[in-house]
Amino acid sequence: MGILEKIDNSKLPIHIAIIMDGNGRWAKKRGFLRILGHENGVKSVRESCEACAELGVKFLTLYAFSTENWNRPKDEVNALMNLLVKTIKAETPTLLKNNIRLQTIGDFEKLPENCQIELKKIIKETEHNNRTTLVLALSYSSKWDIVNSVKKIAEKVKNNEISLDDINDEMINNSLTTGPFPHPELLIRTSGELRLSNFLLWELAYSEFYFTDTLWPDFRKNDLYKAILDYQNRERRFGKTSEQISN
Ligand code: IPE
Ligand code: IPE
Ligand code: MG
Repeated sequence: MGILEKIDNSKLPIHIAIIMDGNGRWAKKRGFLRILGHENGVKSVRESCEACAELGVKFLTLYAFSTENWNRPKDEVNALMNLLVKTIKAETPTLLKNNIRLQTIGDFEKLPENCQIELKKIIKETEHNNRTTLVLALSYSSKWDIVNSVKKIAEKVKNNEISLDDINDEMINNSLTTGPFPHPELLIRTSGELRLSNFLLWELAYSEFYFTDTLWPDFRKNDLYKAILDYQNRERRFGKTSEQISN
């Protein structure tokens, strides 16, 4: 029996988030420039999206560029932004064909103007697609999102639109750029690094983590299936006891 057949379709995560890491090391191992690693990561993005759409995973969030990544060498940042624009243009037909909706989280305004224009275009074109939502985290960091959210809420308190007691879990959820999406049940990080790197700190509060040594450009549908299978063998207790869960 293959891995795919072992997946229980009634226990799929609704939302999977992936920290796509290891592009640079993938390129370095081959004596290539780092950007070639990023370019080869595009196929892994396509495979992951397709696999989620085929399985019926409703949301896939991909960490594509962090707030901290702006501090990389200028050449690499420029190359990444160009690759983003090129990929969006090239992948639009695939998203439309597969009924995938594109959304973003993060500091959208910080992206170069041509990126913003292309992104807005494809977001609009795919807005009614409903098989799977692909959320790209661009110029994203969780601390940035949380600080922003606190400011929005504080502003409402200041203007007497809400009182302090109105602030709750739900309000915080809704004021984050991740607000429209459910929290991921499963987080995957490739390349063997065991950290969150400022990703979804609030949203991953009760998620299952899956780490693999596979470098992102080598990540294929089967790697995603393996992660899902591993997730399905976990017991999610949410603070309760194992007995309470199994009864
Ligand atoms: C992930 O790969 C892609 C981005 C962060 C944009 P890296 O570029 O971080 O690859 P490594 O970690 O240097 O191998
Ligand atoms: C995290 O990867 C950001 C993305 C995958 C976009 P990094 O490679 O930037 O993370 P650190 O800095 O090694 O933790
Ligand atoms: Mg990295």
